[in-house]
Amino acid sequence: MDEMEKESIQKKLYKVLSEHFILPDNLNFSTYLCRNKNNMGFKLYASPLQGFTDFRFRNAFHQYFGGIDTFYAPYIRLDGKLVVKASYERDILPENNTTPELIPQVITNDADEFLFVAKYIQQFGYKELNWNLGCPYPMVTKRGMGSGLISDPDKIDHILNRAHSETNIIVSMKMRMGYENSDEILNALPVLDKYPLRNIAIHARIGKQLYKGGVDLDAFQKCIDNTKHTLYYNGDITSVAEFKSRQERFPSIDNWMIGRGLIVDPFLPGMIKNNTYDYPENRWEIFSQFHDTIYEQYDAALSGPVPIKMKMQGFWGYFSQSFSNPQKTFKKIKKANNAIHYKQAVREILKGEQ
Ligand SMILES: Cc1cc2nc3c(=O)[nH]c(=O)nc-3n(C[C@H](O)[C@H](O)[C@H](O)COP(=O)(O)O)c2cc1C
Repeated sequence: MDEMEKESIQKKLYKVLSEHFILPDNLNFSTYLCRNKNNMGFKLYASPLQGFTDFRFRNAFHQYFGGIDTFYAPYIRLDGKLVVKASYERDILPENNTTPELIPQVITNDADEFLFVAKYIQQFGYKELNWNLGCPYPMVTKRGMGSGLISDPDKIDHILNRAHSETNIIVSMKMRMGYENSDEILNALPVLDKYPLRNIAIHARIGKQLYKGGVDLDAFQKCIDNTKHTLYYNGDITSVAEFKSRQERFPSIDNWMIGRGLIVDPFLPGMIKNNTYDYPENRWEIFSQFHDTIYEQYDAALSGPVPIKMKMQGFWGYFSQSFSNPQKTFKKIKKANNAIHYKQAVREILKGEQ
């Protein structure tokens, strides 16, 4: 049976059922269809994490775990000049990337910079540029960038206007719901409605929170109710159960973005996609191969013992959270002061889990 036949049967069934019963939660038809579609056809996106999800991580992630439809590259930021740093370029060069779809991102509050980066990425064949209005750090927000720009719809309008009249780049957004409060985004959404954005990914926090406190699901619902754009949900998807509860709460959403959760537990996207709570039998073997792949690549790319130690320590700050004893695991990694001790510590940690 193909999708159209299925949908037609679903419609008939729904009609009959709704004539005789009150459907759960008083679902309307489009919600009902969305919910059904979700069960089969939702998409998962890897949220960008500067310092973590560069091309080496993304490629290895895709090779060993899968489950992610599209990866977003961490932001490109210009330092006052129309020049892109070599490290940003390396990260998005098509020959360095083996994942199915990659979308570059920019952080800026300047139309010329936006246009420059849009044209810059187009030379590598990219058609879409994601715009970061989410970064919460005061160094960024005080200069009216990241989540500090959400409260300035006129500036957003100006930049989007120039992007759409002077380039043919497809623009997508990644935002928080405001910096000071979650009403800020409600003033920006009508401006965004004027442009053919591909989507708006919303991390359901405000900038002031940084990463503290919970996500605000009621405020996210208000965003759904106040935009014509396709929204992607982002924030604290850390387990299959958490994902399912968000899916229940927002049946019209079929695009989900995961950030820290996929570093903490790289199996998570695949498990969500396969609708299972079970890890593969060779879970730690796969993790070990993934670990060795990124370790070797970072070791070759970084010079000296300190940068590689810091790099891997950063990862283990996340990885350790899915181990049986997170604190003990992380402590062991931090104690390892050279490459030999580090490799030994990793071996012991993984042996302990098997
Ligand atoms: C260390 C770190 C770096 C991040 N870098 C970026 C970035 O470059 N661009 C961006 O849009 N968001 C960035 N974020 C935000 C994440 O992409 C994501 O929106 C946020 O962590 C919420 O999702 P999560 O709860 O699934 O992690 C970063 C977050 C962290 C913790």
